[in-house]
Amino acid sequence: MRKPFIAGNWKMNMDGESAVALAAGLGAALSEVDTVDVAVCTPYVYLQSVAKALSSSNIALGGQNMYFEQGGAFTGEISCQMLKDVCCSYVILGHSERRHVMGETDELINKKVHAAISGGLLPILCVGELLEEREGDKTTEVVTSQVKKGLEGVTAEKVLAVTLAYEPVWAIGTGKTATSDQAQEVHAMIRGLLTEMYDASIAEQIRIQYGGSAKPGNTAELMANPDVDGLLVGGASLKVEDFSAMIKTVA
Ligand code: PGA
Repeated sequence: MRKPFIAGNWKMNMDGESAVALAAGLGAALSEVDTVDVAVCTPYVYLQSVAKALSSSNIALGGQNMYFEQGGAFTGEISCQMLKDVCCSYVILGHSERRHVMGETDELINKKVHAAISGGLLPILCVGELLEEREGDKTTEVVTSQVKKGLEGVTAEKVLAVTLAYEPVWAIGTGKTATSDQAQEVHAMIRGLLTEMYDASIAEQIRIQYGGSAKPGNTAELMANPDVDGLLVGGASLKVEDFSAMIKTVA
């Protein structure tokens, strides 16, 4: 049985005060929840204050990105160890905004996946097709390639550290959620691929989140699918009421 995993991706939002207030509000609202793993991935500069605000909660902390090198002359970058140092357990890698706005490649993302696992962080590896790729019937091809390249060289033993997040790019921040059937279809395809790449027992253990305009009103329907094991939530993770309502729905 896979334990549901709901992560909030705050992206480049909040300020120091609102970040701490959101974290404290979530900690209080979710103090009774232990049947769902919950994490918030905040901007780097608020990780430390949010970690403090979450210190007596069940909510884990994550970064939104990292660099694969351990240290050195990489201006503007953050290492795995630095994220661990400020209490992160997770790191989002290969988010579509990193791929399509910042130009990250599968090869770079794969290096980050290796660095995160070796350094002791749990990567949330994001994959997903653009609107024109879906309309051109290329969803399976694109997602298959992103999963294979993102996990290239990751052994069966290590892949258990990974959560996959299927985020159709056309559904992110647009209010257009994939239908429950569209989500299930791709999630089942990804699980089949993991079975081919590893084996059925490993594929059964890996959690696959859905992301893209997930909100309180569509949480139950998305999560009712057998292969949807959680959600990666952007906009709706910025409000205590919305994010906690989603988690309570799942719990
Ligand atoms: P959204 O973002 O929920 O605002 O669509 C999801 C994501 O990008 O992770």
